[in-house]
Amino acid sequence: MGHPLLISLLALVTLALADPLRVPLVRRAPRNTSIERFADAADFTRLKYGLDPVQPQLRRRAGQTVGISIINQDQDSSYIGTISVGTPSQQFNVVLDTGSSDLWLASSQCLACPRGTPEFNPSSSSSLQEVTGSSGQPQQLTIQYGSGSVAGLLAQDTVGMGGFTVNPQKFLLVEQMTSGLLDGDVSGIMGLAFQALATTQATPFWEALVNNNQFASPEMSFWLTRFIDDQNTQQNEPGGELTLGGTNSTLFEGNIDFQNLANVPNGPTFWMLEVSGVTVQGQSVQIPTGSSALAAIDTGTTLIGGPTDAVAAIYAAIPGSSQLSGQMAGFYSFPCSTTLSVSMAFGGQSWPVSDADLNVGTVSSGQCLGGIFDLNAGSNVGSGNGNPQWVVGDTFLKNVYSVFRANPPAVGFAQLSDAAGGSSGASSFPLLYK
Ligand SMILES: *[C@@H]1O[C@H](CO)[C@@H](O)[C@H](O)[C@H]1NC(C)=O
Ligand SMILES: *[C@@H]1O[C@H](CO)[C@@H](O)[C@H](O)[C@H]1NC(C)=O
Repeated sequence: MGHPLLISLLALVTLALADPLRVPLVRRAPRNTSIERFADAADFTRLKYGLDPVQPQLRRRAGQTVGISIINQDQDSSYIGTISVGTPSQQFNVVLDTGSSDLWLASSQCLACPRGTPEFNPSSSSSLQEVTGSSGQPQQLTIQYGSGSVAGLLAQDTVGMGGFTVNPQKFLLVEQMTSGLLDGDVSGIMGLAFQALATTQATPFWEALVNNNQFASPEMSFWLTRFIDDQNTQQNEPGGELTLGGTNSTLFEGNIDFQNLANVPNGPTFWMLEVSGVTVQGQSVQIPTGSSALAAIDTGTTLIGGPTDAVAAIYAAIPGSSQLSGQMAGFYSFPCSTTLSVSMAFGGQSWPVSDADLNVGTVSSGQCLGGIFDLNAGSNVGSGNGNPQWVVGDTFLKNVYSVFRANPPAVGFAQLSDAAGGSSGASSFPLLYK
C-alpha cells in the first residue's frame, strides 16, 4: 500500500487530465506544510521496504503475551486447551502436547472415534480446504504415537487460541484411530514441539506464531495443577495456565533456570534436555550420561519414563520396592508407607518431585505404584539415533513452572509461587483455586 496522500493526489491529476471541465466535488484538506511531514514520508518508505520506522507510534504492534486457562483431565492424566477452528469458528478441546508436533482433530467422518467425542464437521466450515499432494490427490496420513496412531486427511483452516490466530493452519482430519487416545470431551492433540518432528510437515501453531513475531517473547510457559491426591475430583478440573508469548510472574518465584536443548545438530525436534542427575531418598543414583541421557520434556505424557538401568537404579534405592510383570511390566511398586523423595537435574538446578506425584495409587495390599516406569519395556519409543531415552511428563512438570523457549532453543524451570501451589508439593491445592 502506498502513501494515502500520494494516492489522492494521483486520483486528482488523473481526473483532471481525463475531463478538464470536471471539478472534484470533495474539497481537499489544506496542505500540511509542517517539516515533520518529511519524517512521516520517510517512515512510510522505511515500512514499505521492511525497515524499522523511526517514530515509535508507527512501529509494528508489539507481540503479545496471553495467559490461557487450561483443563486438568482425569486426575492429572492430560492437560487440555481450547482452540477455535473454521468459519464460523467451532471450539474444540485438545491435549497440549510438547512431546509431538502435529495438530489433529476427530472428523465427523470418524467411525473409530470414542462415542461422545465432539467432532469437526469439515462441511460446516466455509474456510476449510483439503491439502492435496503434488498429483492433486488428497493426502492420507498416519501419525504414530508411542500409545497408538491416528489416520486421516490433511486439511487447512483458520485456527485460533487465546486470541492468537494462524491462517491457514494445516492439521489432520482424523477418520481412524486406535482406542485410548481420546477421553471425555477432548477432540484431538495440539503438538507443541518443533516442525522437524511433524508427520504432517506443517509448521506447528505455536511455531507459526513465533515465526510471525506474534509473541512478545518466543516462549510458551506452563503451570500444571495437581489433583492426583484429591479423592473428590471431577473428570475436568482447573488445569493451571498456559502462557503464550512469555511467562506469568505471579506463577513462579526466583530465576528461571534455562538449559539449552541437547542434541540439536540439525535444529531442534523434541524439547530435549540431558538428565544430569537423579537423587532418590537423599542418595544420588547412577544413571546413563551424555547421548544416553536425552529426555523429552513432555506435557502430553502423564508419568516419567526412563531407560531400564536408570529406572532399576531408582527403585533399588527404595527399600521394599519390586518390579511388576504382565500388563504392568516396566512398572515398580514400593511400600505405601514410604514417602518418596526424588529429585531430577538437567544440567543446572535439581528439582524435587512431590511424593504426591510419584505415588500414583495402591496396586496390592500395602504396595503402591511408582510414577517412574521403564520406557523400554514394550514401548514404541525408539532408542538411539538422537531419540529421547527419557520422557519427562506431568509427574515432574507439576512440580515446576516450565518455560519452552524457541530462541535460543531451551527449556527453563522455576519454582512455583505459593499462589500456584508452590514447588515440591507443599500444597496440593493452589491458592489461586481456593
Ligand atoms: C502536520 O503533520 C505533522 C506531522 O505528521 C503533524 O504532527 C501535524 O499535526 C499536522 N498538522 C495538521 C494541521 O494536520
Ligand atoms: C497470571 O496468572 C494469574 C493467575 O492464573 C492470572 O489471574 C493472570 O491473569 C495472569 N496474567 C496474565 C498476564 O496472563
